[in-house]
Parts: sequence; C-alpha cells; structure tokens
Amino acid sequence: MTTARRLRLPGIAYGGDYNPEQWPEEVWAEDVRLMREAGVNMVSVGIFSWALMEPGEGRYDFSRMDRLLELLHENGIAADLATPTAAPPAWFFRAHPQALPVDRDGRGLSYGSRQTFCPSSPEYREAALRIARVLGERYADHPAVVMWHIHNEYGCHNAECYCDVSAAAFRRWLRERYGDLATLNDAWGTAFWSQWYYDWDEIIPPRATGAVPNPTHRLDWRRFCSDELLSLYKAERDVLREAAPSIPATTNFMVNFSIEALDYWRWAPELDIVSNDHYLRSTDPESEIDVALSGDLVRSMAGGPWLLMEHSTGAVNWQPVNRAKLPGEMRRNALAHVAHGADGIAFFQWRAAKAGAEQWHSAMLPHAGTDSQIWRDVVQLGADLEALAEVRGSVTHAHVAVVWDWNARWALEQPSQPSGELRFVDLVLDWYRPLWHAGVAVDFVRPDADLSSYRLVLVPSLYLVDDAGAANLTGFAERGGTLAVGFHSGAVDTNCHVRLGGYPGAFRDSLGVRTDELFPLLPGESLALSDGGTASLWSERVRLEGAEAFTSYTSGPLAGTPAVTRHTYGEGTAWYLATRPDPATLAALLARVCDEAGVQPVLTAPVAGVEAVRRNGSDADYLFLIDHGGSGAEVPADGVDLLTGKEVIGSVSVPPGGVAVVRQAR
Ligand code: GAL
Repeated sequence: MTTARRLRLPGIAYGGDYNPEQWPEEVWAEDVRLMREAGVNMVSVGIFSWALMEPGEGRYDFSRMDRLLELLHENGIAADLATPTAAPPAWFFRAHPQALPVDRDGRGLSYGSRQTFCPSSPEYREAALRIARVLGERYADHPAVVMWHIHNEYGCHNAECYCDVSAAAFRRWLRERYGDLATLNDAWGTAFWSQWYYDWDEIIPPRATGAVPNPTHRLDWRRFCSDELLSLYKAERDVLREAAPSIPATTNFMVNFSIEALDYWRWAPELDIVSNDHYLRSTDPESEIDVALSGDLVRSMAGGPWLLMEHSTGAVNWQPVNRAKLPGEMRRNALAHVAHGADGIAFFQWRAAKAGAEQWHSAMLPHAGTDSQIWRDVVQLGADLEALAEVRGSVTHAHVAVVWDWNARWALEQPSQPSGELRFVDLVLDWYRPLWHAGVAVDFVRPDADLSSYRLVLVPSLYLVDDAGAANLTGFAERGGTLAVGFHSGAVDTNCHVRLGGYPGAFRDSLGVRTDELFPLLPGESLALSDGGTASLWSERVRLEGAEAFTSYTSGPLAGTPAVTRHTYGEGTAWYLATRPDPATLAALLARVCDEAGVQPVLTAPVAGVEAVRRNGSDADYLFLIDHGGSGAEVPADGVDLLTGKEVIGSVSVPPGGVAVVRQAR
C-alpha cells in the first residue's frame, strides 16, 4: 500500500465476499445486522454478478446493486466493489462462442461455470471493459465504495488457452520479445529435433505433443499467459482509474498455488493495494507454516501491509476430503495473517450458500445460523481485529531474504529434468520451515532485488537465473553478505540454456565449487552424512575450487565427496547445499548460517510450538505470539496485550491454542 490511493477505512478491515444476489432481499437486512454484530466493516460485492447486472449485451440493471450499496452505506459497512468479469454470462458466449477457451489437448470448453473464457479474446476484453466502465462511472462517487476488486483470482481456472486467437496473441508477444525469428530460434534452441521456424505463423502454443515439448517454448508460454492476464487487469484498472481516480484497485492473488500461477512480481507494482487468498490444504499437517510463508511472500510483494481477501472459516469444498478447522484454528490463521502483514482479514464468503457449486463451502454465517461455533468465532475475531486497530500500517524488518522466482519455478518443473521429484515450493518450504520454527523473520525477494538491508540471502532453489540476478546475488556475498544456495540452482540462463563449464553454473565461482555430474536420488533412497545426518532427493559430484567441505557423504557412490560447502568469497561467505539434508540436520545448518551472519530470532529463546512475529509501528512494536502447539506458554515480554487489554510485566501468557499481541514500547 505504498501508492497514493489508499484504503479509506480506519483500523483493520474485516469482512468477506458478500453475494446477496444468492438470497431474497428480505435476508439482506438480517445480513447487515449480523455484520454489525460481528464487527464487519468491509465486504466485497458484485464479484459474480455480471449476468444480473447486464442481462443482455449493453442492457443494464443496477437496481439491485444500488439498493445494496445504499444498505451497506446506511449501516456503516464499506464496499469493495468488484468488476464481475470472472464470470461472463451465458448470453455473451452464445453471441461470441469463439471466446470460449480450448485446453492443451484441443478440447473446447463450455460455459456453465465460471472463468471459462479465452484471455486473449478481443470480444471478452471488449465486454469486460464495457461493464467495468459502466460500473466505474456509476459508482465512482458512491460513499460506500472504498476499493475496486478487479475480476477474481486471475488465472485460477483459465491461466492457459490454446485456441488460435491465443496462438496469434502469443506470436505478437514473441515478436515483441525477440524482434526476429533468428533470435527466437536461437533462444529456443530450435535446431534440436528439427523445430526450426521459418515463418512466425508456424509458431503455435505448446499444445499436446507425442514427445517432450521444447522447454523454452513452454517457459515463454507461461510468461506470455501471465502477461496476457496482466494486460486484462491493467486495462480494467485504467478504465476504473479514469472514472474514479482516487479509489484504489486490487485483485486477489493466490501466491502459493499451482504451477500455473502468475508471475506476481510483475503484477504487484500494478496494484494500488496487494491482496491475497489463502486456503489450507486438508492433508497438510503443518498448515500454520504455509500460512506464514504465504503472508511473508505477499508482504514482500506488497512492500508492506496487504489485505487477506479470502480464507475460510472452516472447510472448503474443492479438496478430495474437506477438513473442518480445529477449535481456535480459524482465529490463529487470521491473526497469523495479520502478524505477517495483513491489514485486513476477509473470508469467502459471508453467508453459506444453499445452492450452487459452493454450497458445501464454509462461510462466516454457516448453514446452521448464529447458534454455531463458527459464528461465535467470527464474532470473537471481529472483536480481536478491533482491538488490533492500531497495528494497521506497521511493517516488519527482516534481515533474511529468501529468493522466490516464478521463472525458476516454471523452468524447474518442466518435464525431462535430471529428477522429476523436485518441486519449487517444497524446496523453499524445506528451508523456510526451520526458520519458522526458530522464529527468524524473513522477506521474499526477486533475484535482482536490492539486497542492501539484508545480512543473509537464502536461495533454496533457483534452477533458472538470468545474468543480472546471478550478478546481484553473488555481488551480495562479495560485498560482505552471507549467501546460501541450494542444489540445482544457477543451472540455466533466462532462455533455459544450460550454463556450461560445470554446475552450479551461475554460482560456481562464488560458491568455490565445480560439479561435473549429477546423481539425483530415487524416492526413498538416502545417503549418510559425515555430521551424522542423512541426505535425500539429490546428490552431485562436487569438486572444491576454493570452498571447504562442511559435510561430506559417508555412503553411496559419492562417499568422501562434499555435500555442503562453505566458501569465503570477497568480503562475504557463500554456502552450497549440494543435497537435501534431513530436517534436523538442515535446521542445525541454517541455525549456524544465521548465527554466522548475525541474524537474531524474534525471541531470544524461541518457545516450541509458539510462532513469534514482530510488526514495527511508528511508535511501538507489536509482538504476535501464536500457540500452534496447544500447550500455551509464558513468554518474556513487557507492554500491553492488546487482545486482553491487560498490562504485561515480565511475561505474557499465551493461552493453549491462543494468541497474544503485545504492544511494546520502543
Ligand atoms: C477462491 C475463489 C472464491 C471461492 C473460493 C472457495 O479460489 O476466489 O470465489 O470459490 O475459492 O474456496
């Protein structure tokens, strides 16, 4: 929220997606009464209302929206007004069937759900901008409207369309990137397998093929898909800006979702307010770590506070088995998002639907009504957020940066890698997890970020790195920083071409090592390490070229070969983790690296099971203590616990499964 367009709302925003069109209007009065009871101060409206707002091309009916915004305003509830462009109406597709998407296998998809349109369709763009303009002009001065919620989760269901219109758009994007075919042929390595292109029109999206696709073709396709959706966002945003220059715009990200995810580093600067959606995975035994990672990543992209646009009060409906939240878990999740920088907490959705595709999704007001645990928890959370109002705007100063890059992720997870077992998010989580347990604050950064405020830069996985990113990271170590790099990083350049001369290509010199051959491990296979630990997933034949071996293998074909190395490079230090140590060994190693870099955890003595995060305000600091372990704890602190209002002298009690937020004087 660094731009001039800020959210005109005091304190922490609280609410959810509100879809009153799913209900008769008699219900609305009860909705707003209960919203006030729960302390809701902002709701997102209109997200899926296109068919009702524009019943036919160019014919509008805003009567329902007019009444709704009036009702909200009368009740002191602000509106985050959405452009409804994530769900075009049936009439649109009947008139423009060519705007329906085609999947990778050439299967044309149908309407009848949501987000089933071709992102490159000119007809879709025209219709989306038309409704955005009419909506923007109509409500620009409405006192309830405090933010534009553009579209919904761009790319959630249609990140890729393989139709001919998309193919032409892809070619335009490629012409812009490469200028001429010779450059493209070189970048894509098309001499391989007779893929040489003589005419731009020969180039198509990477549709289903009998054998492995060209990696650079696929990588550019991912870049194009992200940019294509971004251009739709920007076009809607510009239309709204013209209509209402002072209202901030957001669109809700999904930062740690699937491989199709967008390159949000390119998106974030285009948003006035960065917002994100986060859902737990039922099978994740440590989902609190996923919450924290997501929060840190969004905060880093926003460069400060952000909004949690969606999470769930209980179960979702889109996993094979949808787990309800445990007692206190929803409150811990929500307050953990605040701890990691959220200045607003919202849910999908306000009232649980009785019909439609999401009828089994939890909500703030469940099917059971107000005599329910979820409702009581929602009211409690509203009171908590009100008590935390002063936290708004405070920031986190981390001394550790973790490199996160979508290009590297896309490239790593292509087919025909040395190992198909490597998943970018898992590799980052491997390193993030012990830092979380140790209570070390981290930011996420792009490879080419300004690193001058960090003591330690961690690169868990950066298979692809461009020359500027590589120079930035190695320069950080050279100038006195501590850099730690994970295996199979620096391997390829921006075009996915192998960096020759030995691995890990771009980082070889700074790490003081040279690998001539990779020895990935089979699932279940492990190697013994000289420090008593074990290693899995990956190994490689590392030769020391200036570095010292910190740990070596003591079993397997590489016995005696370095597994972890340390190199004094320029004024700094560069570590290489050429394998995946077991969790305890990795935790000890990262603790040592942090120590050497002078990085301190948030609490001098971290408490097992208690997450500790600090936000720094202009006059005070806010120490969030969240007990995920369930035993509660007494944690040294002085100040005031904002959630209980009690003075804290010497130590604060964090109740079992509960949360304390201590305002600490500077
Ligand atoms: C999100 C989406 C919401 C709702 C929610 C259910 O991805 O934005 O509209 O579908 O998932 O969990």
